[in-house]
Amino acid sequence: MGEPIIKFIDVHKSFETPTGETQRVLKGVNFGIMPGMTTVIGGGSGQGKSVAIKLVLGLMQPDSGQILVNGEDITKMDRKELNEVRKNFGVLFQSVALFDSLTVFENVALPLREKTKQNKKEIHEKVTSSLTQFDLQGHEEKFPAQLSGGMQKRVGLARALQLQPEIMLFDEPTTGLDPTRSLEIYRLFHKIQRELGYTSIIVSHDIPKIFNLADRIVVMHDGKAKVFNSSEEIQWSNDPVIQDFVQVTMGHIYQSRQENE
Ligand SMILES: Nc1ncnc2c1ncn2[C@@H]1O[C@H](COP(=O)(O)OP(=O)(O)O)[C@@H](O)[C@H]1O
Ligand SMILES: [Mg+2]
Repeated sequence: MGEPIIKFIDVHKSFETPTGETQRVLKGVNFGIMPGMTTVIGGGSGQGKSVAIKLVLGLMQPDSGQILVNGEDITKMDRKELNEVRKNFGVLFQSVALFDSLTVFENVALPLREKTKQNKKEIHEKVTSSLTQFDLQGHEEKFPAQLSGGMQKRVGLARALQLQPEIMLFDEPTTGLDPTRSLEIYRLFHKIQRELGYTSIIVSHDIPKIFNLADRIVVMHDGKAKVFNSSEEIQWSNDPVIQDFVQVTMGHIYQSRQENE
């Protein structure tokens, strides 16, 4: 399977609560993210999933441990080195953060205009082809407020992919969508990931919806991370914590699978 593109080695992170207590969020987290695959990071609310994403981006420092990106420890890097590493990343968070005053076309074109020297024609071709890939043709001149939630997410991903990141980080990207729409969005994300081959890391508490689309699943619980290579592996885990997790978050998908048979 090769070397992980991202590796957490014994990562610890605590916060001080407003009442002055220490809250230990990550208590020795170890996992690797394999290149070109989709890894879903699941787990209950408050288990440190978003903290893990912020650590990968260098937006936060761990208290101890190493975080390797392409073999290099980003926790030891200065701002300049970190900015170089960040060029490998594309992000899509809960709030898609489109610019309200820019059209769909302009939103998607923005990274190319700001970060590359491509001319107008090249940018036009590239953006047009992305918009087609994301089924957004005919909506170029609309503003974000005129789009459905699902369309906004698609525009957000199209924009995040313009600079061809090696790694895409998604933190609860379907927040605000109804279950059917979010499944559609996850399917589209999966299809695009397969087409473009980047490494995809999706934080989601919606494990049942997406576990069929994940190559690997990392479950975060009580400050630790557990890695599974398939949904079956989760299902058959002897770990009581994971069994609980399966019961609570995956129970109905197995049921619905049976119903389909
Ligand atoms: N910057 C911060 N300062 C203090 N506490 C934080 C900070 N970021 C996260 N936390 C705490 O760490 C815990 C995990 O947060 P988070 O990673 O956002 O959880 P989730 O798994 O739901 O994404 C939460 O209890 C949260 O309050
Ligand atoms: Mg979160």
